[in-house]
Amino acid sequence: MNKREQLLQLRDEAQLGGGVERIASQHKKGKLTARERIHFFMDEGTFEEIGAFVQHRSADFGMEKQKFLGDGVVTGYGKVNGRLTYVFSQDFTVFGGSLSETHAEKICKLMDLAMKNGAPLIGLNDSGGARIQEGVVSLGGYADIFYRNTLASGVIPQFSAIMGPCAGGAVYSPAITDFILMVENTSYMFVTGPNVVKTVTHEEVSSEDLGGASVHSSKSGVAHFTSANEIEAIQHLKKLLSYVPQNCEEKVPYLPYTPADETRMKLADIIPESANQPYDIREVIQEVADEDSFFEVHKDFAENIVVGFARLAGKSIGIVANQPAFLAGVLDIHSSQKAARFVRFCDCFNIPLLVFEDVPGFLPGTDQEWNAIITNGAKLLYAFCEATVPRVTVITRKAYGGAYDVMNSKHIGADMNFAWPTAEIAVMGAKGAAEIIFKRQIDQAEDKVEALKAKEQEYANLFANPYRAAERGFIDDVILPEETRVKLIKAFEMLENKVANLPRKKHGNIPL
Ligand code: HXC
Repeated sequence: MNKREQLLQLRDEAQLGGGVERIASQHKKGKLTARERIHFFMDEGTFEEIGAFVQHRSADFGMEKQKFLGDGVVTGYGKVNGRLTYVFSQDFTVFGGSLSETHAEKICKLMDLAMKNGAPLIGLNDSGGARIQEGVVSLGGYADIFYRNTLASGVIPQFSAIMGPCAGGAVYSPAITDFILMVENTSYMFVTGPNVVKTVTHEEVSSEDLGGASVHSSKSGVAHFTSANEIEAIQHLKKLLSYVPQNCEEKVPYLPYTPADETRMKLADIIPESANQPYDIREVIQEVADEDSFFEVHKDFAENIVVGFARLAGKSIGIVANQPAFLAGVLDIHSSQKAARFVRFCDCFNIPLLVFEDVPGFLPGTDQEWNAIITNGAKLLYAFCEATVPRVTVITRKAYGGAYDVMNSKHIGADMNFAWPTAEIAVMGAKGAAEIIFKRQIDQAEDKVEALKAKEQEYANLFANPYRAAERGFIDDVILPEETRVKLIKAFEMLENKVANLPRKKHGNIPL
């Protein structure tokens, strides 16, 4: 065999990973191989592999006789939506995609390149965790990755798709990245699997119930997206990338946009007659954003707040919106955590923030207090205070109490604050307020019910409107709902070159 033929043969060998039988077994489980995933992810013909000939160095347990080119991970770069993107894709057909010293080195090399060249890093995870035969060197390999994930955080976007098992310390690299996508029924994430759980806590639980896509997207909030299959997950990754800049120095991507009549009459009919009636804030978002551009994040977790990306006049924005259709849009621990993390992501990557506010306040109760709503609510407050991207708020209805301050108020650095005529900006709802401040008068009244009603009306007349706040300049303009899109397009255009700097510091201390 001449040298040319030798190279071509090695290339063919590398393509096969752990071999045809293991590839067939991967397909039988309804999973794609590492290379097939990259094929569907990258623009056609753009993928360039790095390190296809890498092999492990282990000689224990007869490992020297079991070597596979690439050592369980395919790494490289190419284009996604025409833009440079780095990807690693773990190959379950080689030792279950487990992480050896050299497997880790390949990922680290890629991370270093992504950082130096300012482009997103995507991990397609499918791994049995640390390569058990290698012991501490594989643990060291994980730590090398965690360290780089942390240094890269806020510099380049990092997304993780979980497309198989993700056990042990392996979950912590995805956890440090910006977004996690999981595939339903074929992926799971946990620190310790069902066997360990049974030994330690005597709980009997399946892998799916312990750490499947549905658990992590609704209960724990670890996963931001779930997909019915791997192809859909890959489409989600591509879509997500389309909203974000390549790195923290770039402005947001934009699509061509032709100005048209931006009046949206449908917005005028969304708020119900009664302030206690719910409505779906997504209807408002859909009307305001460019057509079909809203891409919701964390859809099934903490549904009392809605977050996601959209485009406004072609440009990416991040939206945070209280959801009156779920728990009346109240702020609680999970919704505060969810929104705070999203706000911070947008701020890292220069994505302007739009807030829709309709919030009756923070959720009361022992459960919330004992689980630290104080610390967790403060996360959202801190995240908004710290954000230097263009920030605009629209109060559609209730803006009560501390939640008024927290939800991107003027006082904590919002640039433009609008209110609809239906806005109620006050310390609390009229009934609660009347019960407290007119308690004595009501107690002394002959008809207590009537007295409360009258005082409630008095308070509502004074505060259940946007004008007290507008008088002070806390609200920049009171606008008709149908004018919202026009006003927002103009406001964000006006704020496009905003410069705001935080005081010099090593880093802040967000209440974690
Ligand atoms: C070496 C491994 C491996 C591992 C799987 N394999 N996990 N080899 N190290 N961690 C190998 C298997 O021996 C098998 O090889 C092949 O991969 C496929 O595995 P199966 O068990 O046949 O597949 P499946 O039934 O689908 O089960 C997949 C699995 C299971 C659930 C991932 O393999 C498993 O539980 N693995 C161990 C998980 C684990 O405990 N990892 C360590 C976590 S601790 P053959 O040759 O038969 O095909 C950790 C510490 C990190 O990660 C710390 C960082 C801080």
